[in-house]
Amino acid sequence: MTYGLPVIDRETFGRYTGLSLPRHVAYPMPSWWHDVDPTEAGLIRDACLGGDSPRDLSLYIHLPFCEHVCRFCACNKVSLKRKSPHADEMVEGYLDAVISEARTRSDALEALGGARRPVRQIHWGGGTPTFLNSREIERLHRACLEVFDLTPDAECSIEIDPRSTSREQLETLRGLGFNRISFGVQDFDPKVQEHVNRIQPLSLVREITHCARDIGFESVNFDLIYGLPFQSIETVVSTITHTLELLPDRIAFYHYAQIPDRVAIQRGIDHGALPSSDTKLTMLLEATRRFVEAGYSFIGLDHFARPDERLARAFRDGSIHRSFQGMTTGGELDLIGLGCSAISVFPRRGYIQNERDPKKYASIVAAGEDPVIKGLSLGIEDGERQAILMDLYCYAGVCPERLLAVSGIDAHPYLTAARPALQRLAEDGLLTFNRAGGFDLTNPLGRVLMRNVAAVFDAYLPANAAWSGIPQSFSSSA
Ligand SMILES: C[S@@+](CC[C@H](N)C(=O)[O-])C[C@H]1O[C@@H](n2cnc3c(N)ncnc32)[C@H](O)[C@@H]1O
Ligand code: SF4
Repeated sequence: MTYGLPVIDRETFGRYTGLSLPRHVAYPMPSWWHDVDPTEAGLIRDACLGGDSPRDLSLYIHLPFCEHVCRFCACNKVSLKRKSPHADEMVEGYLDAVISEARTRSDALEALGGARRPVRQIHWGGGTPTFLNSREIERLHRACLEVFDLTPDAECSIEIDPRSTSREQLETLRGLGFNRISFGVQDFDPKVQEHVNRIQPLSLVREITHCARDIGFESVNFDLIYGLPFQSIETVVSTITHTLELLPDRIAFYHYAQIPDRVAIQRGIDHGALPSSDTKLTMLLEATRRFVEAGYSFIGLDHFARPDERLARAFRDGSIHRSFQGMTTGGELDLIGLGCSAISVFPRRGYIQNERDPKKYASIVAAGEDPVIKGLSLGIEDGERQAILMDLYCYAGVCPERLLAVSGIDAHPYLTAARPALQRLAEDGLLTFNRAGGFDLTNPLGRVLMRNVAAVFDAYLPANAAWSGIPQSFSSSA
């Protein structure tokens, strides 16, 4: 097969690729957050959420249960068989805890600000949120609506495993007001599916996608992964072709994050069957070309959206944002995380993370305590660097004018300090300086090496991280 790929300097790519570098879903990355006790967490929350101009809210709810665990998965999940004798009890106990945490957070917010803040987004992630049955889904959502005020135009989204859902469940979700769904598709090739322990035939995904459209969801997203064992360029192209036949509104095309020293289940992956960096580059270029030719806008590091979709509109009007849930709208919101491992994000102010283990989380909440484990209060410089990195990951460049307009930040001092490193990256063809005093990543070389350029603005990394990587274990950079 021949591919009409954009020309890329593979020698330069080869020098920068494969380095251990963060993806900056947060800045500073969670590895730099510290242990906090409930007293300190309370202080961080009050400092971040108090003040004269309270922000509207976004809620993230983490539901960790999975009927079948996939061998590649780096998410915080627990294996549970729905038909096992203790499953109902375990889910009930977990939901009791999440609902109780929602009440506590809502009361605390009201006490701090004197009024309820509008909630503009709700996102359920996991694990597998659709592990819950319709009764449990209704119970959780209605309990949240009792203590939080959802705006009429709110975006309500949920991650769905096509193998663990049904028409009845999708109708329940739509009836409750969920308007966006995200299917974990990953790859359609039977051999790849078998090796990663995720058997999910094309016919199943096709049927459930048609069903979602029929029921009237505003937006359907597919998660795909490239870099999985036994993937070849041909199998990835075939997955892309099937995806384009089903026309999702958004596509997340994730690079496989292989971190077996931190994710035990990945030790079952056959490392010899992983595609090389060069092959993965071809997969990415080929996917980008095909998605863009099919009319999708290429957004940030790894997202594609149809031009009329909310995300593509947010990209055009400058309100796009990047978080633990991928590219999102609503960057100006305070994100309250509920459930095990959930992270609360207070933009440019701080982070709080909950206990990771679901049982431990539920028993801490049942005891009336705060389930926090980690957190960080951001200084001014951390907050400004966070905004610069957000600009880079969302818009494939850094624009001082946009940063000033959107975040009120003067990026010039950071750009001046970074100039020698940026100069080196420019000489290698990763970026070009622009008249506004910022820079744009080149396409495709700079875009596929976005994480290397981002490393220049991460003050927690060594000065040479962009071309040398760091000793700490992150997944490889491209
Ligand atoms: C919580 S799961 C999605 C919902 C549901 N559990 C499912 O699998 O369909 C979130 C997504 O993270 C992505 N993901 C998980 N582990 C990954 C890894 N190691 N590298 C890249 N993406 C990964 C997958 O694409 C997955 O769909
Ligand atoms: S990819 Fe989804 S279904 Fe698979 S283990 Fe991860 S969270 Fe569970």
